[in-house]
Amino acid sequence: MDKFYHIVTYGCQMNVHESEKIAGILSEMGYASCEVPEEADIVVFNTCCIRENAENHAYGNIGMLKKLKAARRDMIIAVGGCLTQQMSKAENLHEKFPYVDIIFGTHNLCHLKELIERKLREKKTVIEIQDTEGDIREDNRPLRTSYPNAWVNIMYGCNNFCSYCIVPYVRGRERSRDADKIIDEVRSLVAEGYKEITLLGQNVNSYKGRLTFPRLLEEIAGIDGKFRLRFMTSHPKDFSPELIDVMARNPKICNCLHLPVQSGSDAVLKAMNRRYTSADYLKKVAALKERIPDCAVTTDLIVGFPGETDEDFNDTLALVDKVGFASAFTFVYSRREGTAAAKMPNQVPEEVSKARIMRLVDAVNAKTRALSQTYIGRTVEILCEDYDGKRGLYMGRDEHGRMGYFACEKDMTGQFVNIKITHANGISLTGELVQTV
Ligand code: SAH
Ligand code: SF4
Ligand code: F3S
Repeated sequence: MDKFYHIVTYGCQMNVHESEKIAGILSEMGYASCEVPEEADIVVFNTCCIRENAENHAYGNIGMLKKLKAARRDMIIAVGGCLTQQMSKAENLHEKFPYVDIIFGTHNLCHLKELIERKLREKKTVIEIQDTEGDIREDNRPLRTSYPNAWVNIMYGCNNFCSYCIVPYVRGRERSRDADKIIDEVRSLVAEGYKEITLLGQNVNSYKGRLTFPRLLEEIAGIDGKFRLRFMTSHPKDFSPELIDVMARNPKICNCLHLPVQSGSDAVLKAMNRRYTSADYLKKVAALKERIPDCAVTTDLIVGFPGETDEDFNDTLALVDKVGFASAFTFVYSRREGTAAAKMPNQVPEEVSKARIMRLVDAVNAKTRALSQTYIGRTVEILCEDYDGKRGLYMGRDEHGRMGYFACEKDMTGQFVNIKITHANGISLTGELVQTV
């Protein structure tokens, strides 16, 4: 192999998996992966635009390649993903970084091979941004990089139009993959030895195929072999008793649920177009915990949404306290051009948002830490993912998604082990190996 690629990925799991598809295309073209852009013949940036800082990260790193590109003019730089799906951003990128060779949108990933071939023939920048979603392509074989986990798309796009969110604009409307293709894919992944399957979609609960989402999940959980089944993300408005039932009855489905609430204030939730109230949310979580007391609930929270008052923010703190999230991603609202919220009055000043996020992070962390302490003395099953050479420790996760560390000499990646927890630190646990499962 004498041609190399390097992929830089920003954003969510959807993008991580799409980078695996990009890797699949490049490896079929004869490129091999390399660790640093300096050694690469093609560098691909798979971008995200969910918040301004995600964009800025990408711009910063693309900018850093300017010198390298000047020294190695035959190196190809391609930029794709959610950021470049927006025509204005793509044009801006082209202007700011004229040395970028290929610019493509989220719907054009499957044409990457053709785009590269075109670039090798033509001198000028190749730009392809399709504004229609097109059909679901089943022919891209991903080159998976996250063993023992395998990501599996069940749907693409989003119809929810939460007023702050850019995703529906850059990912298009919801399209569900054929249920049988999904089931076949999982079956072969399990046969290949993957030990954790994570089903992906912006809102998996609104999956629409031959089966409903809970039935699809149940069919997948019925596949032979020892593996864990996860799914993300669920929208609270579509989170149903039927899904709780399927989770409770199928031991392969992990007892954990990522259920983004965003805010605890009904006025803010309404302005966000989330279509549930904080009471609806609490009721759903209570129903889940009643059926599966051990279920870890995690969430996403936004502070500083336009018009958010101190009182609204206090409602968020109160909700966090009531639910007791195992962990939470906390974000400062970022104004996204083109969304409904971008035009709303009363944008919250930065210093107010900053003070709020600090209080929120403290509240969330205190709960996470307290929950971690309850693990001490317990034996938990960990799926080994990685070796932390610096600390001489193996890292894996329990079914709740908590990281568990233990000392071990041999390669255990992909194995289930039981460890007895001796220490807890933030969200991570440390323990002693009891037995291999
Ligand atoms: N489809 C998923 C994930 C969407 S993006 C869902 O609905 O939950 C992940 C998270 O980013 C969201 O849950 C939200 O908390 C956050 N987010 C989205 N747009 C944002 C914005 N403009 N500013 C700050 N956070 C945002
Ligand atoms: Fe964005 Fe809302 Fe869709 Fe999630 S459900 S991707 S937050 S619009
Ligand atoms: Fe970002 Fe696109 Fe995911 S905007 S969060 S990479 S869907």
